[in-house]
Amino acid sequence: MRHNICQGISDYYLRNYGREALVVPSGRFGMYVIAMTFFHPGARVIISPITCKTVIYALLSASVLPVFVDIDLSSGNIDVTKIPRDVLKSATGIITTNLYGTPDNALKIKELADSYELVMVEDCAHVIDSSVQGNKIGTIGDVALFSFKKFFHLKGGVICARDVRLRDRMEAFIWKECLFPQLHQELKRVADFFRKRNDVCKLYQFVQRMKTFLRGKEVERKPAASELSRKYTIPQLAYHSFLALTDPDYHVFPTVAELFRVLLKLEDILQIINRINQRNATLLAKCHLPVVKSRYESTACYMVVPYFCEQKNKIIQKMLVDKKIPTWYTYDPPLNEVFANTLNLPRLNAHLPAAREWCDKILPINPFYMREYLATINDVLESVH
Ligand SMILES: Cc1ncc(COP(=O)(O)O)c(C=O)c1O
Repeated sequence: MRHNICQGISDYYLRNYGREALVVPSGRFGMYVIAMTFFHPGARVIISPITCKTVIYALLSASVLPVFVDIDLSSGNIDVTKIPRDVLKSATGIITTNLYGTPDNALKIKELADSYELVMVEDCAHVIDSSVQGNKIGTIGDVALFSFKKFFHLKGGVICARDVRLRDRMEAFIWKECLFPQLHQELKRVADFFRKRNDVCKLYQFVQRMKTFLRGKEVERKPAASELSRKYTIPQLAYHSFLALTDPDYHVFPTVAELFRVLLKLEDILQIINRINQRNATLLAKCHLPVVKSRYESTACYMVVPYFCEQKNKIIQKMLVDKKIPTWYTYDPPLNEVFANTLNLPRLNAHLPAAREWCDKILPINPFYMREYLATINDVLESVH
């Protein structure tokens, strides 16, 4: 059953991104699989310091060294003009972030990757529908990573690699290192979900949709005996202690019901994207703070909208105290500062002024809480003047 649903998810990516997808238990685990597959231990990989810490943990877990470079203040992503030549020459790969859905300068990065023979990894955890000059983000580099967490609020993600030959290698690795939920966990997740909604009709409809989807599909592929014997014996690697701190279940596959919900979301993707774009447009029309807009041509479906705001910290604080709404996806300090003492790389100690400025001044607003933010912004700005 799981295999058929994963195949359905993969078919979506094949249709929309031209690449088959491998389902992984989480985006962070997917980045670990990518690092283990595409890079050798000790490889240096260029990355923006404005990203999720879990990405860096995943790289370090694979003994891959992140080399932070400064960002472009109009997008929050790597500034391709500021990457030193010696860094490009000594690196093996480059990872884009597509922060908040704003695309990296991906075509330029692809050119650099081709000239310096770098593996280009597109981190699309924040991406649902973004492009540069008509090229869909997620189709430009050698491999792309998507997470289901940000837009679907569901566990898991996918890896989409250009080279299909790497698929089998990554799949075997995933089977070896992941845990699969047991039957009681599968049932408990379904029960929890529907208990919250208290709606037996919905449960019935959900089961019917799943039955319809599975009808006519081939019988679930049985894992080989060797896969079965390996799947519960996870080696105690260092990354378990790193990544388990961020989410103890980061290597546990979503349940069948959760995967099927992802599939339903993908079927509804156009409506979801339209809804997000509409909310973003309303926020953009109503909020008078200057929005940060990428200076290279792009279409961005924002996960949260980045505004430039001197009073950022006051607003975040007031939102939390008055409205009990936390502001998510703020990155402070930038990761070059966080990891400067952990990693013995001179580059990591470098001061990256644009990254620091971004952390000081950018307020990411979730349009879902638009009303509360707008009121709070007014209050704070009035109190300052
Ligand atoms: C840019 C970025 N990449 C990767 C990840 C990891 O995704 P997941 O939460 O599915 O592990 C995150 C998570 O916050 C992220 O922000």
